[in-house]
Formats: sequence, C-alpha cells, structure tokens
Amino acid sequence: MPKYSFSQSGEKFQLPEQEDYLKEFDRLQEVVEKQRALGREIVLVMGIGFVGAVMAAVVADAEDGKGNPNKFVIGMQRPSTRSYWKIPLLNRGISPINVEDPEVALIIDRCANVKKTLTATYTYEALKLADVVIVDVQCDYLKESLGNVRDGRADMEALEESLEIIASNINPKTLVLIETTVAPGTTEQIAYPIIKKMFRKRGIKSDPLLAHSFERVMPGKNYVSSIRDFWRVCSGVNEEATRKVVKFLKEVINTDKYPLTVLDRPIESETAKIVENSFRATILAFLDEWSLFAEQNGVDLIKVINAIKVRPTHSNMIFPGPGIGGYCLPKDGGLGLWAYRHIHGFEDDIFKITPLAIDINDTRALHVAQLTRDALRNMGRPIASAEILVLGASYREDVGDTRYSGSELIVRRLTEMGAEIRVHDPYVLHWWEFEKQDEYPATAHGLRRFFRGQEKLRDLCVEQDLKKALHGTDAIIFAVRHQPYLSLDPDEVVNNAGGPIAVIDCFGIINDVNIKRYFELGCEVKGLGRGHVKRIKDQVREEKEQMLLSAPIQSVKTQEGRRLEVKGLRKKSLKFVQK
Ligand SMILES: NC(=O)c1ccc[n+]([C@@H]2O[C@H](COP(=O)([O-])OP(=O)(O)OC[C@H]3O[C@@H](n4cnc5c(N)ncnc54)[C@H](O)[C@@H]3O)[C@@H](O)[C@H]2O)c1
Repeated sequence: MPKYSFSQSGEKFQLPEQEDYLKEFDRLQEVVEKQRALGREIVLVMGIGFVGAVMAAVVADAEDGKGNPNKFVIGMQRPSTRSYWKIPLLNRGISPINVEDPEVALIIDRCANVKKTLTATYTYEALKLADVVIVDVQCDYLKESLGNVRDGRADMEALEESLEIIASNINPKTLVLIETTVAPGTTEQIAYPIIKKMFRKRGIKSDPLLAHSFERVMPGKNYVSSIRDFWRVCSGVNEEATRKVVKFLKEVINTDKYPLTVLDRPIESETAKIVENSFRATILAFLDEWSLFAEQNGVDLIKVINAIKVRPTHSNMIFPGPGIGGYCLPKDGGLGLWAYRHIHGFEDDIFKITPLAIDINDTRALHVAQLTRDALRNMGRPIASAEILVLGASYREDVGDTRYSGSELIVRRLTEMGAEIRVHDPYVLHWWEFEKQDEYPATAHGLRRFFRGQEKLRDLCVEQDLKKALHGTDAIIFAVRHQPYLSLDPDEVVNNAGGPIAVIDCFGIINDVNIKRYFELGCEVKGLGRGHVKRIKDQVREEKEQMLLSAPIQSVKTQEGRRLEVKGLRKKSLKFVQK
C-alpha cells in the first residue's frame, strides 16, 4: 500500500517507493556534475525544519566576490509520513515553514527557481556527493514531569541516527558541521566516535572532519537575517576541521559585519549555546517571584522594570509573560544538566539555578488560571463552564510559532478546571499541540499527560475573527503581545462580549487608562505582576460613590405605590437611598 504525507495546507504526497530511489540518485548525480563544472561547492543540509530549510536557502544564495553563486545545496529530509511533504514543496521553491519574514519565501523561490542552486531530496545517497554536510536535525529534551526538569533526558535518537547515516555515506574529506543545539560534549564524545567507528568499518583511516556552530535564529520578521547577518561561534575537532568550518562560514554568513568567534574545542561552542539560553531563561525566571510580590503589594512590575531598564547595565531585563516558550529556552538548560551526568559521568549536583529557572518558567502559566478563577469569582461567576477566550496561542509576539507557549498551559489548566476555552490568534491557523495532541510534538510527550479532562481540546479551533471570538465570553486572557491586541478598545471589547467580563493581562498589554475603563464598564481586571490594578479599581469605586453622593435627589414611585427619595445618575444605575 502506498503511504502518504500531508502538507500543512492538506496537499497529499505519495512517499517514494524502492524503485524511485535509484532514479532520484541519478537525477542528483546529473545536477551535481553540472554544478561542480560551474565551480560550486556541494552542501547538503540534513533536516529541513525551522532552521535547516532557511539555512539551506541562505547557503544556496551565497555568492563569491564577483556575484556568482558559489554553493549548490541539497536539502535532505527523511521520507517520513510526517515530514516527506517538505521535499516536493522545497523543490517547487515553496517554503516548508510558515514564518512572518517575507524574505523566507523570496529566498527559497529565488534559489530553487531562478538561481537553481537549491534542490531537496530524500535519498541518503546524496551524502556521497557532498563537500559539506550541515546537520540541522532536532535534539530534544524529554521531560517526565511538569516543573521538574531534572526528571527528563536528552533525546538523541534522530541525531545519532543521522550521524550514522552520514558516516556510512560521506567522503572522508567532507566537513560535517553540526548546527543542532546539543548536550555539551556531543560533538567530541558522541558524534566523533560514531563517525570514526563507521569510517574504520569502511576502511577509512583519516580523522573525521567535524565541527560545531550553533544557530541563533529568531522566529519573526527578521528570520533570514537572524541566520545570515548575525554573529557566529564555531569550533572544529581538529585543525583541518576548524580551518574548513571557518572558511565555509565566512563564505555564507555575513562575517565581515558580524565577526566569527572561533573557540578552541567544540564543547566550548556547544556550551556557549546552552549558557546563552540558560542565561536568558534565568533572567526571565528571576522576575517570577517579583511578579507575585508586585501582585500582592500594589506594585505594577511593568513600570518598575521600565524604570530600571534606563540603566544601561540593566537594559536587558524582560517581563516574563505567561511562561517562557519557544523550542529552545525550555529545553537547552536540561541538555546541559543531562550532559554533566550522562556524557561526562559526574554524580554530584552542581546545577542549582539553571534547573530552577526552567522549572519556574515551565509552570508560571498555571498562575494565570488562578488569576482568571479569582477574577471570575469576584464577579460571582464560577470558573467551571465559564466561556474563556485566550488571546494569543504563540510563544511570543507577532509570530505563529506555538511550540511550548505559555498559552498552551493556560488552556490545559483552565480546561482541567472545567472552563470552556476558545482561542484567537491572527498568526496561527492550526494549534497542532491540541489538534494533534496524541502525536505532536512527539508521541506520548505532549503536555497533555500532566492534566486531566483534555480530550475535547482536540476540537479546539483557532478563531481568526476577533469579534466572533469575543461574543458571549465571560473572560478574556491577553496571553501574547500581538500587535492587534495592543490597541483594543475596552468599550468595543465589552460591547462585543455582550456585557462586563473578567480581563486578565499576562503581558502588561493594557495601559492604566484602559484598565480604568474596564472597571468603569463593570469588568474585573487582574494581571501578572500588576498589583496596582486594585488601586485603580478602588479609585473607580470611589469616583462612582462620589458621583452618586453629588447626584441630585429624585423622587420615584415603587410598584406598590410608595414614594422613595433616591440618589442616582442613570435609571439603570440608580442607587436607592431610603430616607
Ligand atoms: N527553531 C528555532 O528557533 C531554533 C533556534 C536556534 C537553534 N535551534 C536548534 O536547531 C535545531 C533544529 O531545530 P528545528 O527547529 O529546525 O527542528 P525541526 O524539528 O523543525 O527540524 C528538524 C528536521 O530534521 C528532520 N530529521 C530528523 N531526523 C532526520 C534524519 N535522520 N535525516 C534527515 N532529516 C531528519 C526532521 O524530520 C525535521 O524536519 C535544534 O537543535 C534546535 O534546538 C532552533
């Protein structure tokens, strides 16, 4: 039976069969021969996911000093039902990833269709043709419990498998450049032995030419630029590998403007990546306790941070929002911890801050569910069966990447508490963490395991029409600082909702004027790190009381015909004062 792979838009592609492999290798050999005749180096990128697809295009777009392309790139992807579709799409010049940077689509189209310096394939034999192999496959960290990163392990399966396949196919002079974020020590202590052993089996005596240089790609509007025009760190396992990796990166990355840092050993390059991301995870986690302090003591942490940030030494303080997502920050520190024990063999426990930071970040979103519960309680509405709209599914503003977003945890916890959830996100069409929650991000490793009553979330659709999403809601949660949410008018929101609602601000999205307006409209407002909302609430209540006191006394007749003297402003909000 033929097998099929479906693209994100639903297009169906039949997986290759045995007889296709020979034909495909013939095709590649023919193209490569022509490209070599043009003096181009052949670069194979293994894994055409979020990083590999764009890195492949950046390399394919590289030119020599005279403006001639100097590389030919083969993007390689294993032909699994989950990922095969990326190959035919890339061959058509269509980006297999949806990102906000318009340059991604342009550069892929230009290289595949105009310059013809980019092709994609599924056959591992393509490795035989490569001068450089770039490894961009994933290396995950699988957590076994929520909020305890120590209870987990690095998932090296795809990486180890890729390295074995590479070693059994490449020419011994091929440079293998690992870009995957790995547990420090992987290049020298895992990759090198795998390749060396396979070389020995193949009767190759020379040392593998292996190097590491990590990616700093940032999802968002500058995706291509964050790969091409950004500082790189690299290191090789020996002098020749170092020389080759430096030469290669200088030819494809804008190293004139963004100088390359060459470190002595790959473990230093690998550690740089892990420390860089652990540092960021830590400064974010650090503010979690101050966020709670702020909520309990009438402090607006957003204003506090802005006041501190004017000091140049403290300018990188960041408000953490509802948890820290994205593919990298939640896992990279875990790879470090794991490496210390399982690659380097140490038994002691030297890591205090890194795991604590990840655990804090991984559970911060749960507090949002508490705030929502409390806001609804203050309005006399139970959370069970309340209709709650989550604004924003992605892990950061103005991108469509939902991996490990704080919003996912908010949805899961509120669902467990019985709430009915709807979601709006202008950048996300499908929230696969729910729609395919049994298999995404990996079978048996989604966050679903940590919550009960999650079955119905399979049907959670991301609404694109905000008005429709607001209709009849009891509470809204501002979870992501997406541009369209920054200017929402409270009157319109309440009007569209059909009455007063609970409003939860997770990211300092609502300014004080609008917080006040929500209170005036009868809403309840709460926010992460926003203790000052209570002050605004009191102010609104006092102003209402003042207005009532200064309002004229009116005489009204009750249904029973009694006459009452009342103080009031509008018929609807009359406060009866019996004299
Ligand atoms: N996404 C980011 O923002 C980002 C930023 C910096 C660094 N990184 C790092 O880059 C690496 C890759 O991340 P990603 O986001 O591109 O992951 P991804 O899951 O999007 O892509 C990995 C790809 O490799 C493919 N693959 C796996 N095994 C393979 C094999 N044997 N042969 C061929 N292909 C294979 C997968 O099918 C997938 O398409 C990770 O280590 C990640 O930590 C990612």
